[in-house]
Amino acid sequence: MTDALLVIENLNVSYRGHGRAAHILDGVDIEIGHGQSVGLVGESGSGKSTVAFALLGLLADNAEISADRAAFDGRLRDFAARETATLRGTDIAMIFQDPMTALNPMFTIGTQLVDIQRRRYPKESRRSLWARAQAVLADVGVQDAAARMHRYPHEFSGGMRQRVVIAMALLVEPKLLIADEPTTALDATIEAQVVEVLHRLRQRTAASMLVVSHSMGLIAELCDSVVVMYAGTVVESGKVSDVLHRAHHPYTRALLACEIDPHAAFDPSQDLATIPGNVPDPARRPQGCIFAARCPARHDRCAERPPRRQTGNGQTYSCWLETAR
Ligand SMILES: Nc1ncnc2c1ncn2[C@@H]1O[C@H](COP(=O)(O)OP(=O)(O)O)[C@@H](O)[C@H]1O
Ligand SMILES: [Mg+2]
Repeated sequence: MTDALLVIENLNVSYRGHGRAAHILDGVDIEIGHGQSVGLVGESGSGKSTVAFALLGLLADNAEISADRAAFDGRLRDFAARETATLRGTDIAMIFQDPMTALNPMFTIGTQLVDIQRRRYPKESRRSLWARAQAVLADVGVQDAAARMHRYPHEFSGGMRQRVVIAMALLVEPKLLIADEPTTALDATIEAQVVEVLHRLRQRTAASMLVVSHSMGLIAELCDSVVVMYAGTVVESGKVSDVLHRAHHPYTRALLACEIDPHAAFDPSQDLATIPGNVPDPARRPQGCIFAARCPARHDRCAERPPRRQTGNGQTYSCWLETAR
């Protein structure tokens, strides 16, 4: 057993419903070490949020979840029974794409930043919780934090609201911080500022992070390693530096080619529209390679499911091609 904070092996999720069951996640493996930051990247609809929601015990009732092994913080957890839901707000915190999901319009920011700490510090006075909240709010770059604590969410801009949500996540001192498209709803300038806050946070917190994004540029900025998802499967994984310099899977290469400069690509308009074709319908998964229909390197063998290969540096990829270009 590894001592990683999170280990998931062979995670499968399908949705029961009208007619056929849609098999959304097919054999996803993810490992996050203590203090490590892992990126989950892939086109919209590839199942990234489903992974995050499965971790949080937040999947809808019609979801069927199974995993060969799922462990968090040294203990096995029953994902199918949504056991990790009890860790939400203490050991696992979440930053959503839309900050309003996490904020209550009826209460001041100060009250919400105090309340979020109650489970973590049940014995502390309101005064002390308030002081910590104000300090963290200032830390994430909200100016005049003392006065802003008395304001309501609608009195903040989108970028400032996302800073408040980041402060909220920090205040629970989680072991794992999940950020699902944390900057996608923001315009480019604000996005760069929020990335900067996340970057600082990354350097200062001991928490592990799972950053979900369609942008390899954002992942490169914030993560140590990356898991590339396509249509509910992991097609490649490895250290960010290795994957950026030598992507093995044709999908990863296409993904990288779509971002002109991975280190500056925080422009949400720069998504993956340039890869021809569409992600396969989860209810009709192809038998062989899941990417074959769109793959420029497709050949006869791709009608069979490709093997998972591992390189010397720990990079994995599922493809019939033995070597990258
Ligand atoms: N409750 C649900 N019932 C059926 N299908 C769902 C449900 N929620 C999500 N899906 C499907 O799961 C797939 C993956 O979605 P998602 O995890 O949100 O992808 P991503 O975050 O990568 O954009 C999509 O095809 C979506 O339509
Ligand atoms: Mg999503």
